[in-house]
Amino acid sequence: MRVLVAGGAGYIGSVVTAALLDGGHEVTVLDDLSTGHADAVPSGARLIDASLHDSAPVLADVRPEAVLHFAARSLVGASQERPQDYWDTNVAGSFALLEAMRGVGCRRIVFSSTAATYGEPELVPIPEDAPTRPTNTYGATKLSVDMMLTSYAVAHGFAAVSLRYFNVAGAAYGLGERHTTETHLIPIALQVATGERDSMTIYGDDYPTPDGTCIRDYIHVGDLADAHLLALPAPGPGEHRIYNLGNGLGFSVQEVVGAVREVTGHPIPVVVGPRRPGDPAQLVASSDRIRADLGWTPRHTDLAGIVRDAWELRGART
Ligand code: UFG
Repeated sequence: MRVLVAGGAGYIGSVVTAALLDGGHEVTVLDDLSTGHADAVPSGARLIDASLHDSAPVLADVRPEAVLHFAARSLVGASQERPQDYWDTNVAGSFALLEAMRGVGCRRIVFSSTAATYGEPELVPIPEDAPTRPTNTYGATKLSVDMMLTSYAVAHGFAAVSLRYFNVAGAAYGLGERHTTETHLIPIALQVATGERDSMTIYGDDYPTPDGTCIRDYIHVGDLADAHLLALPAPGPGEHRIYNLGNGLGFSVQEVVGAVREVTGHPIPVVVGPRRPGDPAQLVASSDRIRADLGWTPRHTDLAGIVRDAWELRGART
């Protein structure tokens, strides 16, 4: 299939681009390189440096049969401080992309949604029909796009899938997480192990969890890429499917730091700081729906294995 990958120079987008190329697809990446890296785009894909807001001429040129949409601002903390940037890129940008798709008659899309759409869950593991009450602007913007997709499916015959990622980690196809300003837990802990930082802060140990630190569901980026390839052809016209993607296993911040200690052999000194605004106590996925509908099965469920892949890529880069 001829596909456009919006945000294909970022962490997850570049891994999925590699998986699409591997699967025989023809891939063009649209990315404004605001957080992505041109050298992360696999060599078999064409890169067009453009923003979502300017996607119409790009789609008119590429004429894709499907779009995979990863381009977004994705940091919970920053979304609380600068919500305007999140509404602009994530909602106005996605709207421009959907309109550009409509303009060229492209109606198939896989969208990167998030566990942050659910907010503080009543039921764990979280199923897709759980209430969506985001506790931060990031989750609210992604939920808005999910709603846009439902309307475009109903009114314009879009065939859409929203994949609600939980905490993505690890490395695949020689590609991993590389943010200019790192905020994610596993890469930060690995930076302590390499000596780039002296210590790290645990954001709150007074949550209602067994050790007081937040619990998250860590999913390997390679398993996530598999899910995109399965999701791409799945919906029919007029259908908007929503699937959670996680392992169904929750690990606390303390347990993640423990896994990084085990993998790297470094003591990883920590200090406990205040809570980070917008963080729910616990996010763990039920991925029963995508397992049942598409036969998706994660291959990497071991936390230490996920951390090891990220650690080994770091070693390969230095
Ligand atoms: N954390 C720390 N110290 C750090 C960094 C993180 O204690 O230095 C904690 C956070 O407070 C949180 C947990 O580690 O409790 C995970 O934080 P991340 O920043 O790694 O990830 P988030 O859970 O905030 O968010 C990630 C993605 C979102 C996605 C969400 C879904 O960034 O896009 O997972 O679960 F929505």
